[in-house]
Amino acid sequence: MALIAQLTDPHLRDDGKDPFHDPAVAMQQAFAQISAMDRKPDAIILTGDIIDRSAAGYGHALPILRRAPAPILPMPGNHDDPLAFRAAFTDWAAFAPDHLSFTARIADLDMIALDSTLPDGRPGLDPTRLDWLAGVLGTLQRPSVLALHHPPFPTLAPHLDKPGFQNVDAFARMIACSGVRRIIAGHSHRAMQTVWAGTLASTAPALGHGLSL
Ligand SMILES: [Fe+2]
Repeated sequence: MALIAQLTDPHLRDDGKDPFHDPAVAMQQAFAQISAMDRKPDAIILTGDIIDRSAAGYGHALPILRRAPAPILPMPGNHDDPLAFRAAFTDWAAFAPDHLSFTARIADLDMIALDSTLPDGRPGLDPTRLDWLAGVLGTLQRPSVLALHHPPFPTLAPHLDKPGFQNVDAFARMIACSGVRRIIAGHSHRAMQTVWAGTLASTAPALGHGLSL
């Protein structure tokens, strides 16, 4: 059985400033906890906002991520730079040509990493991403986990729910009749769990700063 660790929203900065704590230290502490586990995860899924908008690129983040105690699957969030992200992580995952989605086999599990930041910065899926997802779901051979940055479910936190997840109804219809058994997200910087489209869906606390509800 596959074992996955989810880490999210480190917002790694390259200017040494953070109003609350150093997210690089938080990430190193998370790696230490994973290293101390009796059974190591088969993979670490990093569900976005790897850097903060203050950062010029990923030069400061890559050395930290290379020290991970398990293979990292990097995903973009709304604070990431798509072009710089693709250049930095091109050898880490097989990204789709038009967005940064990819699939991965983790032990006996299929994982779908879905890029939910649209070119205009809004959360959601455009027709290109929906088509890509339909193709992936049509070939699934086993129960699967879908990871994305933005939770598709309402968080009831206004600053998170606006402007709304684009094409969420089409996304929900696809998930409801698919082999996806678990959805994991970031973005909320909080632990949340609900049932969405008939599937257990959650967000994880951030390694970076907290956000109000
Ligand atoms: Fe974030």
